[in-house]
Amino acid sequence: MLNKAEVEKLKHQGANNVAALIANYNDTNSIEFILENLGRLPNNFNPDFLYKLLTHAHSSIRLNAVKNIGKLNEKANTNTLYSLYKNEQNSGVKREIVSAIGRQRKIANKAILFEFLNDDNPKIVCQAIRALLVFKNDNEIIEKLKLLANHQNEMVRTIIYKEFFLENSSADLQPQAQTYDFLKNIVINADTLEALKYAPSESVHLTFTSPPYYNAKDYSIYPSYKAYLEFLEKVFIQTHRITKEGRFLIVNTSPIIIPRVSRSHSSKRYAIPFDLHPYLIKNGWEFIDDIIWLKPEACVKNRIGGFMQHRKPLGYKPNSVTEYLMVYRKSTDKLLDWNMRNYSTKIVHESKVSDGYETSNVWRIDPSFDKVHSAVFPAELCKRVIQYYSYKGDLIFDPFGGSGTVAKTAKSLDRFFFLTEQNSKYFEYMKNKLKQQDLCDQSKTQFLTLDQFIEKSKNEPR
Ligand SMILES: C[S@@+](CC[C@H](N)C(=O)[O-])C[C@H]1O[C@@H](n2cnc3c(N)ncnc32)[C@H](O)[C@@H]1O
Repeated sequence: MLNKAEVEKLKHQGANNVAALIANYNDTNSIEFILENLGRLPNNFNPDFLYKLLTHAHSSIRLNAVKNIGKLNEKANTNTLYSLYKNEQNSGVKREIVSAIGRQRKIANKAILFEFLNDDNPKIVCQAIRALLVFKNDNEIIEKLKLLANHQNEMVRTIIYKEFFLENSSADLQPQAQTYDFLKNIVINADTLEALKYAPSESVHLTFTSPPYYNAKDYSIYPSYKAYLEFLEKVFIQTHRITKEGRFLIVNTSPIIIPRVSRSHSSKRYAIPFDLHPYLIKNGWEFIDDIIWLKPEACVKNRIGGFMQHRKPLGYKPNSVTEYLMVYRKSTDKLLDWNMRNYSTKIVHESKVSDGYETSNVWRIDPSFDKVHSAVFPAELCKRVIQYYSYKGDLIFDPFGGSGTVAKTAKSLDRFFFLTEQNSKYFEYMKNKLKQQDLCDQSKTQFLTLDQFIEKSKNEPR
């Protein structure tokens, strides 16, 4: 029976034994198993049988053969690998060849590596860049790589930007896990764009918001859909500026319907999440996830009624039981691990999400109804977002504060909040609601006019 220990033993007895084993087991799965379990190759290992496998009919065998040849580092036969690259159709094998030649770290391979930069497959180009970055003292290589700043592929451009053009702009900013005291637990009664002018860069850990639904509710009216999207673009550009590196923005929206003006006109649907998306990614937000908020059908407006009567195709209008939570991350070359490492072990421990968390991207939650505000999101929705995308002590921003669900929930989860709300009626409503919560809380909420916020932003130490 073929097993790992046997492969390991034979490997040390000499490559001929491994070659014989492969010949013995002629089937693809067994050969693959042997090649995958070869591990580190001994110094005196004779790789001839690996080169023979480079012409195997199965790409997975060729790939594993190249992987093992790659382990020979500088001793691998560059010319054989290069010939294989030229004739190989499988992109995985080609990528492995580039990696194997890269591992040799030989400046003599420069011309070949340059050729790989012209490959149509961006993953192969990235692999070749990785190999060439080893020679950072070679001017010809550096100049060649810098030219890729204009490459048509975004992954390639990002690597080059990070390697050669990124300036360390966060040098004198606050540490990741901290923020400015004057932003903690405040609600500003102002147009968010005005207030945002006075918020410092990289101060917010998470933004969770539900923007106005174009002209579907009358608390905000825009001259056109384009004007509406451009307004949101400005808000999310500013939100991007004040968000800390690698942190999240979660936007709750849904397609809306603007009812028809008369029976001779049709109503109009606007696909807000889909139309907003290009504005976000254009401005440095990286798309991460789409979460569907699923409501019980009994809670939503009945659109299917007409169809139920007439059953005529084309007139089908399903009840809309979903909204989107579009999840974005402020673009960065840093991994999430980097963000996590910025917190103390104590905070990480205290912020751990307990059992019963949602495992899929469909969240079944009942909507909330409020006697004063017509579009509040449920506390449960807010609770999940804050728990899954922030740590205790973080600052959570909501540019469209409404009735203050984000503030209330953030506070109950030991996070801080920073809200703006333009409408005085909702601002006053929020004040009453949050004041009740403040009665049993030490860090009181501050309700500010724009002028008071401006004053605070000038006076408070940063
Ligand atoms: C969909 S509601 C948010 C409701 C909120 N998520 C809640 O749970 O109560 C959008 C809010 O944005 C506010 N708003 C609209 N335009 C604004 C602006 N330019 N600046 C600040 N707030 C604005 C509206 O008054 C409304 O209360």
